[in-house]
Amino acid sequence: MKIAIIGYGYWGPNLVRNFSLAENSEVSWVFDLSEKQLDRVKKSYPNIKTTTNYQDILHDPETDAVAIATPVFTHFELAKKAMISGKHVLIEKPMTSSVKESNELIQLSQKSGKVLMVDHTYLYTDAVQKIKDLIVTGQIGKLQYIDSTRINLGLFQRDVNVLWDLAPHDISICNYLMDDFPIAVQAVGAAHTDNNLANIAYLTLFYNDNKIAHFNCSWISPVKIRQMLIGGDQKMILFNDLETTEKLRIYDKGYSIVPESDRNRLLIDYRIGDITIPKIPQTEALASMAKDFINAITTHSVPLSSSKSGLDVVKILEAAEKSIQNKGQYIEF
Ligand SMILES: NC(=O)c1ccc[n+]([C@@H]2O[C@H](COP(=O)([O-])OP(=O)(O)OC[C@H]3O[C@@H](n4cnc5c(N)ncnc54)[C@H](O)[C@@H]3O)[C@@H](O)[C@H]2O)c1
Repeated sequence: MKIAIIGYGYWGPNLVRNFSLAENSEVSWVFDLSEKQLDRVKKSYPNIKTTTNYQDILHDPETDAVAIATPVFTHFELAKKAMISGKHVLIEKPMTSSVKESNELIQLSQKSGKVLMVDHTYLYTDAVQKIKDLIVTGQIGKLQYIDSTRINLGLFQRDVNVLWDLAPHDISICNYLMDDFPIAVQAVGAAHTDNNLANIAYLTLFYNDNKIAHFNCSWISPVKIRQMLIGGDQKMILFNDLETTEKLRIYDKGYSIVPESDRNRLLIDYRIGDITIPKIPQTEALASMAKDFINAITTHSVPLSSSKSGLDVVKILEAAEKSIQNKGQYIEF
């Protein structure tokens, strides 16, 4: 499998490294508009061809697939050209900057039979896989809420608001853990620059069965926090991504309504039990993601981070942006 990497800025080098190391794959080209970035490739990987002309890759019959790690607003055009040229396509999150574009790419992939996949890296982390396992095996009881904080003094993106930049991770994890798509979205945010792109935002997703998720995303926090609470009616999980070894804590905490309580006198019984820290392997999520992409191409299987999950994330982001513009409007799907 020969793969070309498109974009060699911050994230592209991670794709080059992982696709170079993956079984049955070889990086054939790196394309970037910047010669300076390509000089970095030549130094680290003298055997990989570099180009500032996309046509070199599109017309190379030996290159089977492209992996796109460029700014969001360029994803659609680059992916569309690659699909039309008969390549399989992997796109960094978020898949595109609109639902219309995502739908068009999905139609193209259905027509050509080529794989279209998005890199929702977090789905491949051992921590998220462990949480999923705890949920599906009933160990935390009935899932009730997800509450996530993803804040730091971050790089302001010039083309998208903070939700488009940070929330794809939370949304993709949330849809995966809830095994569902929300029924409605509500978001508020504020832009402290003159481009009207919110640099701090709060997003709420409402799911069936009274399940709820809330995300706090910010580029203007003095501290870096990457925490997610996953609440079940039996146990609750704290996922702290900044921890190196103890990423998950499972709290055997819960509550129950005392049977004789009524509307006016609600009596709650609290249960406070042990806290356990499961052992989580530390495999690199991107290596598993690369493997899944190659596997999807060779076995025609649907990857975990499918184009459908990419479209779902974009649908939520688009609705969230509309909600922010309309001062927190409740938007139903
Ligand atoms: N999966 C993750 O956890 C993760 C983490 C970071 C970034 N990303 C995603 O990766 C993508 C790139 O982000 P980044 O932080 O590396 O951006 P970046 O700005 O650091 O790098 C982008 C690179 O693309 C090049 N480029 C821009 N337009 C191009 C075009 N039309 N054709 C070819 N090259 C072009 C630029 O010269 C630059 O080298 C984004 O979609 C981002 O959301 C994903």
